[in-house]
Amino acid sequence: TFMNGISEFRVLESQIKDKLQLEHVIIVSGDSDEQQTVKEELGKACVQFLNTIVTSNQTIAVTGGTSMAEVANQMKPLHQATNCTFVPARGGLGEQVENQANTICAQMAKKANGNYRMLYVPDPLSEESYHTIIEEPTVKEILQMVQDAKIVLHSIGDAITMAKRRKASQEVIDRLTTQHAVSETFGFYLNRHGEVVYKARTVGLQLADLDKAQYVIAVAGGKSKANAIQSYFKLGKSNVLITDEAAAKELLEGY
Ligand code: G3H
Repeated sequence: TFMNGISEFRVLESQIKDKLQLEHVIIVSGDSDEQQTVKEELGKACVQFLNTIVTSNQTIAVTGGTSMAEVANQMKPLHQATNCTFVPARGGLGEQVENQANTICAQMAKKANGNYRMLYVPDPLSEESYHTIIEEPTVKEILQMVQDAKIVLHSIGDAITMAKRRKASQEVIDRLTTQHAVSETFGFYLNRHGEVVYKARTVGLQLADLDKAQYVIAVAGGKSKANAIQSYFKLGKSNVLITDEAAAKELLEGY
């Protein structure tokens, strides 16, 4: 298990690092598909890593989902950094409230003794509302903070699983199937080559914004997410992966 920043999976970590071309890989023991405690360990590992990189007055953008919710559960005061602000990278994306970026962000900030801002936008949006809403001064201000964030925390989901959980229409699901969508993150759906095949119209962080961030940290585990992780890293927009043993081993066996 993960202790003092040293993992028992050093070899596996360096294999994944090479395969996905990453700067940092942290692997925790087990399979988070099978056990909730493994997801908790992913959360702890993320908090521990965050503590080693965060500096005072930074903005940390956060997405939604159960993995991020677990990072929030495990959050601790950021001892070496004061006055950090957590901002939601996206609006609701049709998720239950406990899985929404706003909720997670507020919880993280509270436990980290930091600040937070909210992004009050329905998600996804119609074309018409989208253009009006992004011009709202309060929304604009948060979007600017999100785009300037030096640290981004996010998860990666299996494309169809995420589309269904977010109650996408049958038309969208059919399209994702035809286009062989494998992964989802930030509302972007990618195929196995890491090409964007569909994008939900949502306010918030866009893939292009990630180039400006210093640390883009993906927290995603479970054997069922191996293909999604592989697909997302073909795009190469994140430099840190925190995953579990089951996903890592499956990843090495994959294409
Ligand atoms: O974008 C990916 C999803 O937010 C992942 O959700 O952590 O509940 O699997 P999850």
